[in-house]
Amino acid sequence: MDIAYSKDFEELNKAKHERNTFDCGIAGLNTFLAKHALQNFKAGVSITKVLPYSEPESNGKHSVCAFYCTSVTTMQAESLPQAIASKLPRYPIPLFLVAQLAVDKKTQGQGVGEAALMNALEHLTRVNENMRAVAVVVDCIDVNAKDFYQRYGFEHLCEVNGRERLFISMNDVLAAVGSR
Ligand SMILES: CC(C)(COP(=O)(O)OP(=O)(O)OC[C@H]1O[C@@H](n2cnc3c(N)ncnc32)[C@H](O)[C@@H]1OP(=O)(O)O)[C@@H](O)C(=O)NCCC(=O)NCCS
Repeated sequence: MDIAYSKDFEELNKAKHERNTFDCGIAGLNTFLAKHALQNFKAGVSITKVLPYSEPESNGKHSVCAFYCTSVTTMQAESLPQAIASKLPRYPIPLFLVAQLAVDKKTQGQGVGEAALMNALEHLTRVNENMRAVAVVVDCIDVNAKDFYQRYGFEHLCEVNGRERLFISMNDVLAAVGSR
C-alpha cells in the first residue's frame, strides 16, 4: 500500500519534521538533511523545503518523503552558452541553484521526484519576480541524477568541484511553469 504524504512542500522546521529517518539511498544527501540543511538556512546560505509523510512518528514529528534545497550562485558570462552570454554584462551573473533534491526510498518511482523538481522551479519563479537570475543550475551527484534532470530540459554546462553542472534558462523555466 502506498504511504500517504502531505499535499505540499513546506519549509524545514526541526519542531515539526523528523530529519533522521530519511533515506534516499545516497548517504551524503541523507546527512545533508539530518545535519546541514538547517545550519545552512541559519547561516543564510540556502533554504530547504520538505514534503512530510502524513502520519507522525511516535515523537509526534513527521518523517520526510522528499526534500529540495535552493540557493544562489554566480558564474562569469563567458562560462554560459553563447546564445545567452552574448546578451549579458561582463561581470558575475546570478543563477539559482537546486543544490539538493531527493526522495525517500519508500516513495521513489511514484512521481514524487518530478513533483519536487516542479515545486522547486515554481518556488524559484516566485523568487525571480523580486530578485532576477538568468538560469537554474544543478550539480549532478551521479549519472542517475543527470539522467533525471535531462528529462526536464536541463543541459550540460560545465564541471564544478568534480560534478557535472546542468542548466536550464529562466525563460524556459517560466515557459514550463506557466504551461502547467
Ligand atoms: C532521482 C530521484 C529524485 C527521482 O525521484 P522519483 O520520485 O523516483 O522519480 P519520479 O517517480 O518522479 O520519476 C519522474 C520521471 O523520471 C524518471 N526517473 C526517475 N529516476 C530517474 C533516474 N535516476 N534517471 C532517469 N530517469 C529517472 C521516471 O521514470 C519518471 O519518468 P516517467 O514519468 O516517464 O516514467 C530519486 O530517485 C532520488 O532521490 N534518488 C537519489 C538522490 C538523487 O539522485 N538526487 C538527484 C540529484 S541531487
